[in-house]
Amino acid sequence: MTDHHTFKRRTLLSKAYSYRYALLVLAVLLPLLPLIPLQNSKVPDTVFFLGRFHPLIVHFPIVLVGLALVFELLQKFQWVTISKVLQGFVLGIGLLGSLAALTMGMFLYATGEYSGDLVYAHLWGGILLSITFCVACYFFLENAKKERPIVHTSYLSFLIVANIALVYTSHQGGSLTHGADYLTEYMPSWTKPAAEEYHPKPLEEMLVYEDMIIPFMDKKCMSCHNSNKSKGGLVMTHYEGLLKGGKSGKPTLNPGSVDESELIQRVLLPEGHDDRMPPEGKSPLTAEEISIMEWWVAEGASTDLKLESARSDPKIEPFIADYLQRLEQQQKAKYMQEQALESMIVQVANDKKFQLGMDKYGDGKIALSMAFPPSSFEDKDLTELQPLFSQISKASLVASGISDDGLYHIGQMDGLKELYLQQTSIDGSGLVYLTELPNLQLLNLSKTRVDDGNLLHVLKMDSLEELYLNDTEVSKEVIEALKKNRPKLRVSLERGNFF
Ligand code: HEC
Repeated sequence: MTDHHTFKRRTLLSKAYSYRYALLVLAVLLPLLPLIPLQNSKVPDTVFFLGRFHPLIVHFPIVLVGLALVFELLQKFQWVTISKVLQGFVLGIGLLGSLAALTMGMFLYATGEYSGDLVYAHLWGGILLSITFCVACYFFLENAKKERPIVHTSYLSFLIVANIALVYTSHQGGSLTHGADYLTEYMPSWTKPAAEEYHPKPLEEMLVYEDMIIPFMDKKCMSCHNSNKSKGGLVMTHYEGLLKGGKSGKPTLNPGSVDESELIQRVLLPEGHDDRMPPEGKSPLTAEEISIMEWWVAEGASTDLKLESARSDPKIEPFIADYLQRLEQQQKAKYMQEQALESMIVQVANDKKFQLGMDKYGDGKIALSMAFPPSSFEDKDLTELQPLFSQISKASLVASGISDDGLYHIGQMDGLKELYLQQTSIDGSGLVYLTELPNLQLLNLSKTRVDDGNLLHVLKMDSLEELYLNDTEVSKEVIEALKKNRPKLRVSLERGNFF
């Protein structure tokens, strides 16, 4: 019995063959999927419901796309014979599974519970997998009808690429659910890449402003002179801020003139003087630090000034050597501390209902998020994190089991800037605990039961800048009142993001 006969007699395969071009059309249309503006639209509950099936359904394509390749390889080495019908079946179900997983995945993406680079990479991996698998199926059907080496090779090639996309996509997906080091965590240590070592910047590349001045300003000045808290109207966290100066109107930095730069004059004032910087009780600049800053200002205060030129100037050279040595020690200590914190974070978070990561834009602080929404994370799980409270700058408790009482603990996270409470069952009575948070800038209450009365606590959140209230019971009148009382607060009826 030739394959030709098989093809004719097995109607399923020949039926599929008559639809083969649909596979190519699909392959062309799939890359358009991410253009659908899902993340900003209003999402019906069915989408949430279906989206949650994604993690379950993905296992079908994972097994079948892989199995199809295994069958082909076994066949190639003539270890087994697998009929076209069986292979067609594996491919067909695998294809349906991939498309279903992709659709559910898009639904899950639409809920806004996931976003970020990793999700995007995962989404594109899924699309690439579906495309290549569609094309592989197309060539399979062509080859089943009439065997030709070129068609067979095309089929195999696409099947292999689909499998590569499969491995990539599953890995990204696994990282989303379990954390990026899920696979390598228990890897024998000799296979792990060596921990990154501390590499100080080479001396030739060091800049006076960036590598010598900023580090001590950061420690001794910036806590009072940053964009959130700018005492005397002065922001020192960037160079433009120094040039702009503060409320007094006197130049803080006048390049080339030490006498006319308050930056220097204020630190030179005698101890006890009212205007001396930093103010009494804070650790003052050392003589070396002052000399370096003075020298830099006198030389024109350029941000490009290289450390090399300081080292060749006898006026300043003696201060530099010692300072550099101390600087390196400090930076190394800071680096080690960050590494230690990072590894502790990974340890605490492993096999828990939540994840902890570094909040890259939060000065090395911690971002707390749920492992896989809906998470069984509850109020009592929060207490476990107590030792880290002061370090947390972002907390996402989307779709978790947190209650209004749990907000009491969140109220102790002094450094918290962003709080995401979407899809929790809070009614807002616990918002009162958040009014003491000095840095809270973003609050997302979309899809909660928060009501007019409880929302009024928001008025006492002085640092709040963004508030999201999509799909809540809050009345228009209260929203208008909020906007009137707090003109700077951006109240949005959109869903708002999730990190
Ligand atoms: C504990 C908070 C705090 C720290 C730390 C601090 N400052 Fe200030 N700074 C203030 C306050 C408050 C003012 C406004 C009152 C004043 O002008 O004296 C001010 C004002 C200034 C001004 C004047 C701005 C203007 O109005 O033109 C300069 C310059 C300045 N600081 C430099 C520094 C430098 C340099 C450091 C670090 C060595 C520093 N400050 C550290 C609190 C601080």
